[in-house]
Amino acid sequence: MTQHDSATGSSVESLLDVRALRADTPGTEKVVHFNNAGCGLLAKPVLATMLDHLNLEAEIGGYEAAAARSAEVEGFYREIAALINARPRNIAFAASATHAYSTALSSIRFEPGDVVLTTRNDFISNQIAFLSLRKRFSVEVVHAPDSREGGVDVEAMAALMRTRKPKLVAATHIPTNSGLVQPVAEIGRHCRELGLLYLVDACQSIGQYPIDVEEIGADLLTSTCRKFLRGPRGSGFLYVSDRFLDAGHEPLFIDMHGARWSAPGAYEPAKSASRFEEWEFPYATVLGCAAAARYAREVGLEAISRRTPALAARLRDGLGAIPGVEVLDRGPELGALVTFSIKGWQAVPFKEAMDARRINSALSYREFAQFDFGDKNVDWCLRLSPHYYNTEREVDDVAAAVAELAV
Ligand SMILES: Cc1ncc(COP(=O)(O)O)c(C=O)c1O
Repeated sequence: MTQHDSATGSSVESLLDVRALRADTPGTEKVVHFNNAGCGLLAKPVLATMLDHLNLEAEIGGYEAAAARSAEVEGFYREIAALINARPRNIAFAASATHAYSTALSSIRFEPGDVVLTTRNDFISNQIAFLSLRKRFSVEVVHAPDSREGGVDVEAMAALMRTRKPKLVAATHIPTNSGLVQPVAEIGRHCRELGLLYLVDACQSIGQYPIDVEEIGADLLTSTCRKFLRGPRGSGFLYVSDRFLDAGHEPLFIDMHGARWSAPGAYEPAKSASRFEEWEFPYATVLGCAAAARYAREVGLEAISRRTPALAARLRDGLGAIPGVEVLDRGPELGALVTFSIKGWQAVPFKEAMDARRINSALSYREFAQFDFGDKNVDWCLRLSPHYYNTEREVDDVAAAVAELAV
């Protein structure tokens, strides 16, 4: 692939030294990785950091290795905080975005009749969690309508905030099931104006766009580290604002790390977001996340956020020109997730045909996005998600592969 890169020479490519970034990413020699919305390819420094720590654990013991690397472990909080314009005390490590999300939800004292206001494009597991809250606590789940263009109608959502006075407003920045980018900062402005609790799922946007929790106005924000941030699997984080910490919220199940057992019948929650963590840590993974966040900031989030969606836009153009292919992404702003349906194919055989060409992709089904796929009247789609280290040539090759399969 690499020999083709210099031939592209587009303005988007020149934002970054793509050749050097690919040399740092061993996976780019093996596959055409268009599944960054699933899991990004690890960069060499991230892999080296993790292997180094595993070796140290094998050599001197797991607890001893954690003690020896305690300063670097603190680096996790600094790096993630710097990535989202927060302070280290507001960051908690989590084993996944979903774990971060459910821990955050468990800290809200829902009562029967409380309203959770969300969007039609919030992530599947979040929607299931809201339904579970409905089942257990009789909360009402309200979905703000979409605008005609696609994506949530912010004014209609704000009107619902005023009339329904939700206990929680929840929005997914970039859903898993399409290229849509939701206007989370606009939603946040209304939440701040009305003093409403605001939870943002930034799982697909961390590492793809600069994220500023102050600008978004989030009380809580969750993410994995494995997707566009290119961290290891089994990792994520929860941002908890001072507002939320000071209000005394704590997870339902808090452990010896999140709290101090201060007397036989009492415990004191930690003052910082470590209240939301557990004692056991996958230290190699935590250090890998710190390295990935540092790497992303060194590459530059501003440049990444220009190049990555531009590669996706090029792919949409290529796919849109193929007879029998329908690009499904709708909305005023589109990011790096490209989704499409193709006539004459079943889901699994189509993905297998892409796999056979060493093109990594992912399938989405109606169950992942009941509202969105219902509106679009599709049962499944293929999702392609390039990242900054992919090349224009790869984008064109992928579109050509789909064109070959479409005939
Ligand atoms: C928008 C969004 N939120 C949350 C998640 C869940 O992340 P995790 O698998 O780390 O729990 C995903 C995963 O695809 C996602 O796309």
